[in-house]
Amino acid sequence: MSESTKNSSMNSDLHHPSAETVDAALIKDYETLYRRSITDREGFWAEEASKLDWFQKWDKVLDDSKKPFFKWFSGGKINIIQNAIDRHLKTWRRNKLAIIWEGEPGDVKTFSYHALNREVSKFANVLKSMGVKKGEIVTIYMPQIPELMFAMLACAKIGAAHSVVYGGFSVEALAARIEDAKSRVVVTADGGWRRGKINDLKSIANDAIKRSPTVEVCICVRRTGHDVYMENDRDFWYHDLMGLPIANPNCPTEVMDSEDMLFILYTSGTTGKPKGLLHTHGGYAVYTSTTHRYVFDIKDEDRWWCAADPGWITGHSYMVYSPLINGATLMMYEGAPNHPYPNRWWQIVEKYGINILYTSPTAIRGLMRFGEAWPKRHDLSSLRLLGSVGEPINPEAWRWYHRVIGQERCPIMDTWWQTETGGFMVTPLPITPLKPGSATKPFFGIEIGVVDEHGKEVKRGEEGKLVIKSPWPGMARTIYGDADRYVETYWKEYEKQGWYKAGDSARIDEDGYLWVIGRIDDVIKVSGYRLGTAEIESALITHPAVSEAAAIGLPHEVKGNAIHAYVILRSKFTPGKELEEELKEQVVKEIGPIARPEAITFMDVLPKTRSGKIMRRVLKARAQGLNEGDISTLEE
Ligand code: PRX
Repeated sequence: MSESTKNSSMNSDLHHPSAETVDAALIKDYETLYRRSITDREGFWAEEASKLDWFQKWDKVLDDSKKPFFKWFSGGKINIIQNAIDRHLKTWRRNKLAIIWEGEPGDVKTFSYHALNREVSKFANVLKSMGVKKGEIVTIYMPQIPELMFAMLACAKIGAAHSVVYGGFSVEALAARIEDAKSRVVVTADGGWRRGKINDLKSIANDAIKRSPTVEVCICVRRTGHDVYMENDRDFWYHDLMGLPIANPNCPTEVMDSEDMLFILYTSGTTGKPKGLLHTHGGYAVYTSTTHRYVFDIKDEDRWWCAADPGWITGHSYMVYSPLINGATLMMYEGAPNHPYPNRWWQIVEKYGINILYTSPTAIRGLMRFGEAWPKRHDLSSLRLLGSVGEPINPEAWRWYHRVIGQERCPIMDTWWQTETGGFMVTPLPITPLKPGSATKPFFGIEIGVVDEHGKEVKRGEEGKLVIKSPWPGMARTIYGDADRYVETYWKEYEKQGWYKAGDSARIDEDGYLWVIGRIDDVIKVSGYRLGTAEIESALITHPAVSEAAAIGLPHEVKGNAIHAYVILRSKFTPGKELEEELKEQVVKEIGPIARPEAITFMDVLPKTRSGKIMRRVLKARAQGLNEGDISTLEE
């Protein structure tokens, strides 16, 4: 997005919701409730928490005695499954559809809350029979199939934690995550369908498990039916286990402390080692369900589709947990949006009567390329609200989404948040007048600021660093196994003020609307996926030809950003097209296809500081023909 588009869109072009939308909205007055949620934060969250089922009520809403290690609802006993499944079984929702799933080849499965409970309970007993204990972390590496959800929910039910690794990740990324979580059990599948091809997850899992001495058991779902290697005494077919008497459909839901670990989810940061953000049963359940209900105005009759992958936080919070807690019917689709044709998503919206669609700017831009004729072939009149997440949505994509998909009837909820925040932080409500490209205003209980490096608020309209000034129930509690890194990464810079550093730059305009610009650390958002420059660089350096590497993100029309890598070769090697391809493949093999560099440039030297740090900022400026800024520390 160019600067001029950004600025010109900042204040003009206000989209007011229709009277019908406002009439139907759960929240009619944002300002009043927002003020109350700030002046009486604990009261606000206690009221929201009371909407959930607890085995035992909490003693304290917020315990800030060990800042920044905040605790929420301490003393409370809860299990997220008691809320996502068990409580619905006692009501008419027992027979309501919980999940509608469509595979890429067109196969369909549906599960009522009753059926979901059966599957989850059976698999929970299977996990128990494999010796899975409370507190243990099970790694899940699966395509978008219902068993992925069953596995996550079954872990939570018995008090084990899950670590879902995105199915697009490769051997190295998977092995590093299994190792960090010390998983004994891995749940995977023989593959998934993607654009008519099999994504061979089991082979990748086999290679990763070879490097992971902690793994004793691997459970494999048969999805595609192609031949895979199964190791005797270690690997078991999911359907075999689910057919045994151990897969009893009755399984008690474990009573957990509010602050007990629900899952860890790895995300990229500034160093090569991925960090496992830890989320808990109580606060996360309260936060995700509250944000989902108010922002998307969830009604019992709604069909909700979060077209994300469960391997990322969006999938965890808004595809699996919050829709189930809110008793919604959710849609899950296995494959690519443009397979076999670019109308696949619109066909799904029409076929199932989807009311709310939540997706990413990159998906919108990707589908926009195929033109309006594809969505126009379908009846999209069931849609009521739209959502966007993952990166700033450029006004052009916003307008297309609004006009062509939403038919100017559906407001777009542009939700800003992160793996670390657990749920929406800055977001419109259906009643909010919208400005294309702005995530608008903070959610209830959330206080934000845009500040300079000293923590001084910048002037309205000026760019600064985005901070969050007070705790919220959905916040990650720590980085698994590395509390120091948690403090260092998020809380050190504004220690005096006690603020959370988001790692994004942003502006707040004169109406108080937030405009997120992008990451200011060494994180690149490629198609909304979060990748660390260090991960890409270390993947490149594992190739024998490479002595040094630097990776940066440069603007890309569809992906938002694309990876550009700069490498210095070892003396025996010469630059060339073939080697360039080989290096790109190396990154795919190590991390996954999403990390494939767009271009590789061979260099003799890299711009470095005198202390030897690569100045990626300088590479970026040069590549874009921009001013290099302050280069007084440049050694070159
Ligand atoms: O840079 C922001 C961008 O995505 C980052 C968080 O990435 P991740 O932890 O992978 O979570 C993505 C899904 C919640 C943020 O620091 N980001 C996310 N949503 C938006 C966004 N940038 C602008 N607008 C958004 N709506």
